Amino acid sequence: MVDTSVTLSGLRLDNPVIPASGAFGFGAEFAKLYDLNILGALAFKGTTVEPRFGNPTPRIAEAPMGMINSVGLQNPGLEAVINEELPKLSEVFHKPLVANISGFSAEEYAACAKALGKLPQVGIIEVNISCPNVHGGGMSFGVDSKLAATVTREVKAVTTKPVYIKLSPNVTDITEIATACEEAGADGLSLINTLSAMRIDLKTRKPVLANTFGGLSGPAIFPVALRMVYQVYEAVSIPIIGMGGVSSAEDVIEMMLAGASAVQIGAANLRNPFACADIIRELPRAMEKYGINRLEDIIGGAHR
Ligand code: FUM
Repeated sequence: MVDTSVTLSGLRLDNPVIPASGAFGFGAEFAKLYDLNILGALAFKGTTVEPRFGNPTPRIAEAPMGMINSVGLQNPGLEAVINEELPKLSEVFHKPLVANISGFSAEEYAACAKALGKLPQVGIIEVNISCPNVHGGGMSFGVDSKLAATVTREVKAVTTKPVYIKLSPNVTDITEIATACEEAGADGLSLINTLSAMRIDLKTRKPVLANTFGGLSGPAIFPVALRMVYQVYEAVSIPIIGMGGVSSAEDVIEMMLAGASAVQIGAANLRNPFACADIIRELPRAMEKYGINRLEDIIGGAHR
């Protein structure tokens, strides 16, 4: 019997599979389809202090082997997340939560981290400094190493929970941002968020997305994500949650060989709502096929 368990900052997960923030809401729709407790952990939709309606539509565009979204951080706001969404989720999910937070100032990130960090079911605070779909916040913190470090420090100051910074691929050198976050006290890193992208409608000759640009996710970006996880693993000593187009048990293994300690599944859930369940079921078989007894042993294996 193979061992699929992994550890993230002292948090033991039965397996490394975590639905990614933004692709799983607050779990309610998926809980109708399967028992969510098979998951290693669950990252819920990026939460901001105030409720957000999100960007105007259309905010989804198709792309070869992927999709582009410009959702714009739609969420019911911190108070409703704490008082309504998470109590509902705790009725059906008893594993650790990854609380994904966003903001338009370091203070807003800190306010979310402080409030969510107090909840026992929150295992990790994931700080999204990489959303490409909002102006004046999100990715603007994630493409500047000084701002990334400032947000990291402000969040670390208000919570005892492990703080993981979610990095943007839309930078020249992701290792520069990664090391700035590590030096500022980050406990771990999540990467990558979506790649800035667009489509143009040939009939109207206008951008498909109302917001013009969005973030590309799905299998198309998997090799890019893998390359960045590989690079960041060489640059830092803190754990990495790898993500970006992961769609199969084999992808999970590849991502862990690059250096990920756990893996998030995003766009695959939108194509197949059973994607996480399928990957968790297939993982032991894939491990046996590639001669892996203990999944944790392969983390960073491609570097040796
Ligand atoms: O626009 C969104 O809600 C997506 C956020 C993200 O990619 O971080």
